[in-house]
Parts: sequence; C-alpha cells; structure tokens
Amino acid sequence: MFKSIKTLPIDPIFGLMDLFKKDARTNKINLTAGVYVDDKGKIPIFEAVKQAENIILSQQTSKNYLPICGDEIFREFALKSINTTDIKALYQDAIQTPGGTGALSVLAGLISKNFPSASMWLSDPTWQNHHNIFSADNINIKTYYYFDPSTNSINIGKLENDLRHSKPGDFILLHTSCHNPTGTDFNDIEQNEVLALVNKYNLIPAFDNAYQGFDAGFSEDIKFIHKFLANGVKLFVASSYSKNFGLYNERIGALSFFTDNQNELRSVVSNFSSIARSKYSNPPAHGSTIIKTIYSDRKLFKLWSNELSFMNTRINGMRITFADELTKKVKRDFSFIKNQKGLFSLLPISRDGITKLRDIHGIYLLDSGRINVAGLSMSNLSQIVNSIQHILQEENL
Ligand SMILES: Cc1ncc(COP(=O)(O)O)c(C=O)c1O
Repeated sequence: MFKSIKTLPIDPIFGLMDLFKKDARTNKINLTAGVYVDDKGKIPIFEAVKQAENIILSQQTSKNYLPICGDEIFREFALKSINTTDIKALYQDAIQTPGGTGALSVLAGLISKNFPSASMWLSDPTWQNHHNIFSADNINIKTYYYFDPSTNSINIGKLENDLRHSKPGDFILLHTSCHNPTGTDFNDIEQNEVLALVNKYNLIPAFDNAYQGFDAGFSEDIKFIHKFLANGVKLFVASSYSKNFGLYNERIGALSFFTDNQNELRSVVSNFSSIARSKYSNPPAHGSTIIKTIYSDRKLFKLWSNELSFMNTRINGMRITFADELTKKVKRDFSFIKNQKGLFSLLPISRDGITKLRDIHGIYLLDSGRINVAGLSMSNLSQIVNSIQHILQEENL
C-alpha cells in the first residue's frame, strides 16, 4: 500500500549536525549550522530575553490561542522595524508566523493560490530550504545568477541575463542583508540596479529578512527594502526573529505586505489568514510575547540592542582575524571574507576537500563550502586555519 512512498534524503544541514553529534573526537569543530555561537561555542540566550521571560512567567494568566494573524503589538513591532521612517501613502500589515520559514511558506501559499502561472526567482546559490518551501506549493522555481566564486563578488550583468527570461508578474526573492550562503550583499549601486531591473521586468519583490541586525545594525539593515518602498514598489517581507533574538526554537517570524492600495492590502491579508488557518491554524505565542515585552520596555530594548551589536562586533572581528591568518598561512588573498556580512562565508574548497576536512580534521562545514563564521573563536582558529591550509595545499599539488 505504501510502496509508492520513497525514502527521502535527510536535510543536509540537520544531517551533518547529527553526524557531528555522533563524532567521538574531542577536537571536532562545528561550522555548519546557521546559529550564533559565542566564543565558548555556546548558543547563548539573550539576557534581555531571560528578563522578559521572568516578567512573562509572573504575569501570564492564560495559554489561550493567539488570533490567526498573531499578537497585535508584535505585528506592530514587525512593521515598525521595516517601515522605520513611516513612509507616507503606504498601507501595511503583517501576520505573525512560525519563524521565517512559516512566513515564506504563507507567501508560497499565496502565490500558488493567486498567481498559479508565476515563477519564483531565487538567487543562485541560496538557502537550500527556499527550494523546498516554494516547490512544496508547486511553484515553478527559476534561479538568477548571483555570486561569481572566481571574483567573490556579484555579477549584475549575468543576473540581468537571467531575468530577461522572466515574465511580468513573476516573483523575485531578495535577501535583505547577510546573504545566505555567500555573505555577499548588493552594494548601494547594485541595489539601485536591482530596483531598476525589478521595475523594468515588472517583477514582484519578496525580501527574505532573516538576518536583520547582523550587518550595520537592526535599523540600518533594511536600507535595501527602503529603496523599494520609497519608489512605491509593492512588496512582501518574510522576517525571522530566530537569529536576532536568539529565539530559534520558539518559531517566531512575520510576513508583511506593503502597498499603496488599501483594498489590495485587505485582500492580501485575508489570504494570509486563510492560508495560515489551513497550514498551522495560529502561531505559537511564547516568541511573540518575549519580543513584545522587550519592545514595550525601553530598558530591555536597549539591553537587547546592545547584545545584538556585541554579537555583530564579535563576528566582524573574527572575520578580520580569520581572513588575515588564512592569507598568511595559505599565501593567497582571503580579504574578501572581511567584506562579507553576517554569519556566513563560502570557502573555495572542493567537495573532496570538504569531506577530508570533516573526516581527517574533524571540521564540519556544508558541502557547498559554507562556514558559520560565528563558529570561529580564538581557541579553534589555528586548528581551522592549519587544516584548511593542509587541504588547499594538497588540492594544488
Ligand atoms: C535565509 C534564511 N531565510 C529564512 C530562514 C528561516 O528562519 P527560521 O528559523 O526563523 O524559520 C533562515 C534560517 O536559517 C535563513 O537562513
């Protein structure tokens, strides 16, 4: 009866994490997961989150369901952290979702229900789960050229070559900041070029906003979206608060829509609700209660904001040290790592080299060469740099 059900491969990131857990070596190093780890290798809970949880514990009187669209104050926070300058003549609303994945999944539901012939354009490469999420709703996926590994930079010319094959009304997914997996974002000029391309080809932009606060700061990292809003472009934003509040297992995110047309907003948001109702009914409450408690308390908000900046400073410091040490040891220029943003960088190591790094040296990274820069610390840096040098030297023999 179930013969037609095929066994599917395990998710590559969770699969590697499993392998890492089972590895008995004491000097193993995990650079796979997309989570912030501190210099002791721990995934910390923000002090602001702990304090908010204490308040919640003493004040909570019910575990009732949230509305389908989630908590009202949390939704206000989600919108205000995008439309920070209160752009006029803009109608906006947001639905609380189970993580950024939930936000993308509601968006996928909206596209498949209302725009069945539209394609979704994803950057090549991108976070692998983007492919899973949009194909789960039978959306036709296409990819646009993004990152050229030979120059470690974006190639807008090739990107446009791909978008020439788009049709009006197709969707394009853009990473707001800290591109996963390359760590390479559009610079100011390139952002303007992308805006012009989106207008030229009549595309509908959706922003994946999973790392707000890991580049220049929480308020600064939405510059790319602002350019579009200031130009009157209607757009979607799928935000995740997993990383910037450290609330990975609370599953907290938001899907927002911005438009100049009030009726359009009403229709879109009613679709958000209907899709959410059928996919998961209503969102989990703990994450949004934490965020709304922090948002509503000036002192807690400041504390959270300082903690986020501290993480950022540590990552950027590690980027500089890692790039300098690699350049010295391997005698090749790795300075591009310093200019990249957020948790990730792609290392120019072959698949075979990545397997050897894992099997021989106990260093785990994704098969694509993606490393989590936050996983580097002064105590593991020399092991990592020496092992990479060893592998690259062998590859060049
Ligand atoms: C680019 C990108 N988008 C979305 C997400 C989803 O975040 P969440 O864990 O909140 O579902 C991630 C998580 O790793 C991500 O890297």
